[in-house]
Amino acid sequence: MLITLESVLNPKELQRCQTLLHAASWSGGEITAGKQSALAKNNQQLDEQSPQLGELRAIVMTALSRHAIFFSAALPKQVFPPLFNRYSGSTNSFGAHVDGAMRPLPDGRGYLRTDLSATLFLSEPASYDGGELIVADAMGERSVKLAAGSMVLYSATTVHRVAPVTRGERLACFTWLQSMVPDDGQRHLLFEMDMALLALRQRLGDHDSAVVALTGTYHNLLRRWGAV
Ligand code: NI
Repeated sequence: MLITLESVLNPKELQRCQTLLHAASWSGGEITAGKQSALAKNNQQLDEQSPQLGELRAIVMTALSRHAIFFSAALPKQVFPPLFNRYSGSTNSFGAHVDGAMRPLPDGRGYLRTDLSATLFLSEPASYDGGELIVADAMGERSVKLAAGSMVLYSATTVHRVAPVTRGERLACFTWLQSMVPDDGQRHLLFEMDMALLALRQRLGDHDSAVVALTGTYHNLLRRWGAV
């Protein structure tokens, strides 16, 4: 599963994030990496004590909570508090790695199972060279570089990397999600069905009997496959 969500942040939110990130001081990116990924990781990251982190997280969480397609695609049960990174200069890449399956929550409230990974791009693509997120799955490799304010959601089960940034800087927000539907295939079927239902509702109206019946089937599948 790999889904791009356009304009997750509005222009005002994007600008505020960029202002906060330009004022921030950065640490080595290995702070949240596991043993294997620490060896591959060569970027910078905002640390937990950063004074800008609270406002940045609130902006992103507010934006996600109003995004209907994000909800439908991820069926989020829990979102890890978003993190922010920077690729530039000599700290400019993240080699092939996998994301750890269970991530301890920062406040000691147990673990989050990483079903999905998310990257929210915060620099305009024309302002830097390289920096593509490259995700490998059974279909091969996909290279993703989105407009600032847009997000990619992809299966956390994949091997992925960030290509070296050779000019400029790439700012991004990243996080992981535990989904109500852990199985990638089931979640994707539900997403396709929900999107088809949206189109049918626009064509036939909310009260068409086939639309009502299929909406029921969607929710019954979600009831069967989902857990809260
Ligand atoms: Ni990763």
